[in-house]
Amino acid sequence: MKKLTLLGDITPAQFLRDYWHKKPLLIRQAIPGFKPLLPLTALAELAKLNHVESRLITQVDGEWNMQHGPIEALPAATQKAWTMLVQGANLYDKKADALLREFRFIPDARLDDLMISYATDGGGVGPHFDSYDVFLLQAHGKRRWRIGAQKDLSLVEGLPLKILKNFKPQEEFVLEPGDMLYLPPHYAHDGVAEGECMTYSIGFRSPSYQELGEAFLQFMCDSIDLPGRYADPELDVAKNPAEIPKHMLATITEEMNKVRFTEEDVTIFVGEHLSEPKHNVFFTGPAKPLTMGRFAETVAKRGVVLSLKSQMLYRGKHVFINGESFAVGRADKVLLDTLANERVLTGTLVAGASDDVMEALYTWYQDGWVELA
Ligand code: SIN
Ligand code: CO
Repeated sequence: MKKLTLLGDITPAQFLRDYWHKKPLLIRQAIPGFKPLLPLTALAELAKLNHVESRLITQVDGEWNMQHGPIEALPAATQKAWTMLVQGANLYDKKADALLREFRFIPDARLDDLMISYATDGGGVGPHFDSYDVFLLQAHGKRRWRIGAQKDLSLVEGLPLKILKNFKPQEEFVLEPGDMLYLPPHYAHDGVAEGECMTYSIGFRSPSYQELGEAFLQFMCDSIDLPGRYADPELDVAKNPAEIPKHMLATITEEMNKVRFTEEDVTIFVGEHLSEPKHNVFFTGPAKPLTMGRFAETVAKRGVVLSLKSQMLYRGKHVFINGESFAVGRADKVLLDTLANERVLTGTLVAGASDDVMEALYTWYQDGWVELA
């Protein structure tokens, strides 16, 4: 891969100030000379796997069809207007991961995945909008994008995919390999392949407050502490036995109001929640793991690297990896923050690790969360 200009002439800070969540940005030759990171055959192999999220969309006589993966066989290359989309390519391919991580001027907690689409001439997913920001990087062939800032986001009913009822494009661009288009959330767009093409979507993650709230209540289940049990030593004779006593409700309300959460509870919840692997992500540890002693010797030379599937975050004294949280001391923090930011630790750094960190690294190695560098 040649040197990335990625945002053209503007800096990440300018991009975030002027475009992010605000307006589209077309960057010609964001990655000069960009070539697909994996060939169609490799993409088709990924789409065959159970745990890889993929879709096949075809248009036959103007009718939209969608099939969820695994995709056993693709339509003929000569058949027009079909597209295959493979989500999370970064979880399975080092180069795809490296591309996604070029976008780390946006924090990991907001980065989602790299989706790769392949389409034959005329193929696309139709005019739609997404709830998330997206960078659409043209990887191979040409795609014509029509985009618009319309307010009317009503969808055609009864279709297997989201298609805008009244698409009113305002701008049109043909993207060639290396060109990239940024779109803010809810911006209407339609990309149609001109000849066969591949497009890479760098996607972001913005959890809904409802999702967070539900998960937070579950999280809090494990930590609320409400001692005592309802009692009514002053109980009056029940006039209407089926009626819940007023005193009972008042007392319970008072007790329930004692449920409290601190900023630290929220920090731990957010870190665990956002580092939780997606439901279809499975880790495989080494078939023949080294013993702890051999592991320590080896990593002190070679270092360790986070698995492509590992999500590691931190805040304050808390470190989060794949849904688990750890409160760690100052010295260990420096090392673990480095691992989270760099996604690798050199042998020299590992050699200076405390016993606690070494033990954690060894467990993570056995679980497939980190690997020998
Ligand atoms: C595609 O790659 O065909 C679709 C990407 C998108 O519109 O979000
Ligand atoms: Co889209």
